[in-house]
Amino acid sequence: MIDVEEASFRIDHLNYCLWRSSATDVGHRVDLTPKAFDVLRYLVENSGRLVIHEELLEAVWRDVHVQPEVLKSHILALRNALGDKSSSPRFIETHRGRGYRFIGTMDTLADLPNLPPAVLDLGVFAGRAAAVRELSALFQRVVSGQPWALFISGESGVGKTTLIEQFLSQARCHPDLAMAQGHCIEGFAGAEPYYPILGALRGLCDGVDRAKVVRALSELAPSWAVQMPEQVSTGPRTASRQPASADLRSGMVREACNLFEMLAADRPLVLVLEDLHWADFATIDFMSAVCRRRSSARLMLIGTYRPEDLDTARHPLKQLTHDLALRRVCSEMELAPLSAAAVSELLNGNAEDEPVSSEFTEIIMERTGGNPLFMRVTLDYLVERGDVSRRAHGWRPLVPLNKLASETPPTLARLIEAKIEAMTDVQRRLFEAASVAGLRFDPATTARAAGLDEESFEAICEDFSRNATIIRRDQLVVLPDGDLVRAYSFNHAIYRQVLYDRLGHSRRTHLHRAIAQRIEEIYRPDQRTSVAVRLAQRSACPRVICSV
Ligand SMILES: Nc1ncnc2c1ncn2[C@@H]1O[C@H](COP(=O)(O)OP(=O)(O)OP(=O)(O)O)[C@@H](O)[C@H]1O
Ligand SMILES: [Mg+2]
Repeated sequence: MIDVEEASFRIDHLNYCLWRSSATDVGHRVDLTPKAFDVLRYLVENSGRLVIHEELLEAVWRDVHVQPEVLKSHILALRNALGDKSSSPRFIETHRGRGYRFIGTMDTLADLPNLPPAVLDLGVFAGRAAAVRELSALFQRVVSGQPWALFISGESGVGKTTLIEQFLSQARCHPDLAMAQGHCIEGFAGAEPYYPILGALRGLCDGVDRAKVVRALSELAPSWAVQMPEQVSTGPRTASRQPASADLRSGMVREACNLFEMLAADRPLVLVLEDLHWADFATIDFMSAVCRRRSSARLMLIGTYRPEDLDTARHPLKQLTHDLALRRVCSEMELAPLSAAAVSELLNGNAEDEPVSSEFTEIIMERTGGNPLFMRVTLDYLVERGDVSRRAHGWRPLVPLNKLASETPPTLARLIEAKIEAMTDVQRRLFEAASVAGLRFDPATTARAAGLDEESFEAICEDFSRNATIIRRDQLVVLPDGDLVRAYSFNHAIYRQVLYDRLGHSRRTHLHRAIAQRIEEIYRPDQRTSVAVRLAQRSACPRVICSV
């Protein structure tokens, strides 16, 4: 049973649950049945007053006649959830034969400022329970006075922001939580030093602690204050304390460290910096400095980035995370696409009566590779086409599965086109040839069609696989002469499809021929069909093997 002396609870009207926190447990969700929740809600709303049985029954079971005994089982469930005892109650007092009185204190989550509830475009949040637990465990360490940085990486749309929102919606049951958020923006942020940090500070200035933050800015970070005239009115005294320009950068970093440490001294502060692949170098300097200082500030820095958008392996963010990990002041979380089980959970929604078919799950999994953004766009497109319905509980096909529209949704195609446009000519040639080979391809059969030797082909594939961008490493393949080659796979059928669809007719025919010719050179006639099938395996495009 829970230690009733320690635990405190918040009632969450959005999620129909309670959040329990104690010295050792920040943000544990306590689920209740809908009726038990309604009973509790009514008692809490009428806190301190005796609520008689009839009134409670009328409030919770409006038009249904139920016996007062029913209440007993719900009160028992609530007592178990709250760790309460009828003999010495801390929350619910029983008045035998008459009713109940709520005598405890319980805050409402929705009352907390600054944190809008996370909106889930796909309906439910799936597949990230372990990641949320990891974040909560790190937060727990931070609350106990060990500052920490966590860098969450993953491809676009994999769910980095959503994961943080879900974690924060749990962490917000910590009574003193403060949070600040800054975004890097493509092109622009790189040009303006400290862009996301300034954004986070402006957010803090608009929050409930406005007076404290503004005062701290003026006193501890004058060179920041002068950059925020709308939030902080700086007098001549502050302006004159601005460091000379040669020292400006190190001075600003030092001031920002002092400022954030002060703000996180007496309450936990979560500083979220999003899309750091676009961060300016001054922001990286700040992160480096704040993470290296040995303070006991309750500061949790969470950064997100897309590995595919770090221009080179020498990007300072990579060096920073590597260095901080060695010093044991940060950890990294690589967010993979959702598993088939999570995709099925999302499609199912909360429905228990009519589970979604495994074939439908497989189709969506194959098309989107478990990327939630791709799922959302694909499902919205299928809904628009009338092929799929969105219900209160999940998504269901309206047409036979072989009739589901198979073209790539235009918004997704544009997103992928932009990635393709950003490639060098050589990289683009490689992926075009690969799209003809199938979802899975290898250098032996495909390099020549791409106009590359096998080593260069493999080197480019290795580069892309390292960042899980577009493709990933697949198995080793044994060639008839005994040589081994590494195969690679597209992360999503959609990537291959867009690359394939944008090929002109003659280039497509040329690539088909070149790959078929190479297969003929490498494999005996009796092996060719199986090779072609293997290459095209899981491919949405059987045309690939026609020319062999
Ligand atoms: N675990 C999940 N369960 C349900 N929906 C999810 C999940 N993760 C993400 N989504 C949905 O997928 C979409 C993309 O998610 P999100 O914006 O978090 O991705 P991201 O990794 O931050 O992308 P970017 O790199 O572009 O910022 C959103 O519509 C979000 O609601
Ligand atoms: Mg994001």
